[in-house]
Amino acid sequence: MNILVTGGAGYIGSHTCVELLKAGHEVIVFDNFCNSSPESVARVQKIAGKPLSLVKGDIRNREQLESVLREFKCEAVIHFAGLKAVGESVEQPLMYYDNNVVGTVRLLEAMEATGVKTIVFSSSATVYGDPQYLPLNESHPLSASNPYGRSKIVIEDMLRDYYRAHPDWKIVLLRYFNPVGAHDSGLIGEDPGGIPNNLMPYVAQVAVGRREKLSIWGGDYPTPDGTGVRDFIHVVDLANGHLAALESLTEPQCFAVNLGTGIGYSVLDVVKAYEKASGKPVPYTIAGRRPGDIASCYADPAEARRKLGWEAKLGLDAMCADSWRWQQMNPNGFKS
Ligand code: NAD
Ligand code: WQD
Repeated sequence: MNILVTGGAGYIGSHTCVELLKAGHEVIVFDNFCNSSPESVARVQKIAGKPLSLVKGDIRNREQLESVLREFKCEAVIHFAGLKAVGESVEQPLMYYDNNVVGTVRLLEAMEATGVKTIVFSSSATVYGDPQYLPLNESHPLSASNPYGRSKIVIEDMLRDYYRAHPDWKIVLLRYFNPVGAHDSGLIGEDPGGIPNNLMPYVAQVAVGRREKLSIWGGDYPTPDGTGVRDFIHVVDLANGHLAALESLTEPQCFAVNLGTGIGYSVLDVVKAYEKASGKPVPYTIAGRRPGDIASCYADPAEARRKLGWEAKLGLDAMCADSWRWQQMNPNGFKS
């Protein structure tokens, strides 16, 4: 298939492009590089040993999207492009609604105009809000405590509404849990600008000596060791979930599915596993809770098995080992 990948230069997009190329698809990356660089796309082609097409553009530009969808005869879209920093979304909500929600409206308009009726969308476990029960299955009620999360719920609702009006479309909403790790080549990985917000990139920078110590946000949660528990999923497993989702779309439908492992690990579990993988100490202090954080979050992965025939294969040790390889080979990310 000819597949348009919006945000394909980013962390999850780049890993997915590798798997798409390996599976024999034609890939067209569409990205404005607001949180990535063309270097990741160069490395994707190096890993896969195949070329892809790269177009610099913004998803809010409907005309450009239309001409790309036509020019490359795209048959499906995997839609990663969006902003994802929770704290930033609280400070600049309009930027998040504009980029994420308006951007998706423009993309759907361009798809409608060009007759492309298949879309795989990057949603998030954040749409479940503070869990009412665990593990989280897809029928758990949706709620959000920040504009980023709300932008994902709005887009999910919009896609469900759109499907009701256009029941010949094929739509999957993939709810990612906590993507971590990197490709095992060490050539691509997560490249956060500034101080990392997320746990594993921060731990990686402590292990490599770029930061002095980790602050653990809260040691008094109702969890086995008092630190937060999350469902960390290897980004390569996640990437393969997108292929499985595309392959599952044999007939028109619209559904949401979790991409997680079903296993919850605590922040301290991650610290210990990272120390083992890297052979380096990861000093930490227990600090106060981070506003908006929840105690525990992990997926019920049964629906993904049923609907996509997909399940995560890689464990926490591989996540840490691959993150560490990427960190060591690229101490300054793609600028290295
Ligand atoms: P990322 O920032 O690495 O990738 C997003 C890409 O989209 C970047 O390359 C960025 O330059 C591009 N982009 C952003 N706005 C754009 C626009 N208007 N036009 C064109 N390109 C644009 O993020 P990621 O971690 O790879 O996340 C990909 C998607 O998955 C996002 O939609 C994110 O919300 C979602 N998601 C991420 C996580 C996570 O923890 N990483 C978890 C759940 C969901
Ligand atoms: C994990 C655990 C922290 C950093 C976020 C978004 C979510 C999704 C994935 C996109 C928590 C603790 C972290 C640190 C710490 N993104 N932590 N010290 O918060 O589960 O999810 O990313 O959809 O929307 O909210 O991930 O990696 O930030 O935190 O103690 O320096 O690590 O408190 O318990 P989170 P995270």
